[in-house]
Amino acid sequence: MAILKIVTIPDPILRKKLASVKNINKKMVQLAHDMLETMYNAPGIGLAANQVGFDYQLAVIDATRSPEEKGKNPIILFNPKLLEKKGKIINDEGCLSIPRIYDRVMRAQKVKVSYQNEHGKEKIIEADGLLAQALQHEIDHLNGNLYIDLLSSLKRNLILKKYKKLKNEKK
Ligand code: NI
Repeated sequence: MAILKIVTIPDPILRKKLASVKNINKKMVQLAHDMLETMYNAPGIGLAANQVGFDYQLAVIDATRSPEEKGKNPIILFNPKLLEKKGKIINDEGCLSIPRIYDRVMRAQKVKVSYQNEHGKEKIIEADGLLAQALQHEIDHLNGNLYIDLLSSLKRNLILKKYKKLKNEKK
């Protein structure tokens, strides 16, 4: 396992619609596990392949709130697709590629998603709450979208300014 470097905005790979994974081979499964390790280390609850520089439809999620359950049931999703959305909910959201910034975002409350697991098996997941939010956030990443796209342009510009400022302060 290895901890990978997380890319941040404005890296153009974060705006790319990623390529579907045809062959879920050993190398792909290894990448998924490295992404999990990177996500736990960050720490975060989800990570998409472009956030570590890879052009693959691959995301990992572990959205449990319980510290004892963390790491027990991570989800590895190849080629995930949002099949259904229900309800609306507003929650705080952040992203490892826009570090130290959070804002309130409106998402569907419940979702149904299809994907292939690390064995190439077709799966369906139905989720609500934090897991539904994470699924939507990661599927957005795989399509080159970021949560800040869901905000008004005024709010988005404020966030980008704040982010630039934080980034400069860090140097
Ligand atoms: Ni993100």
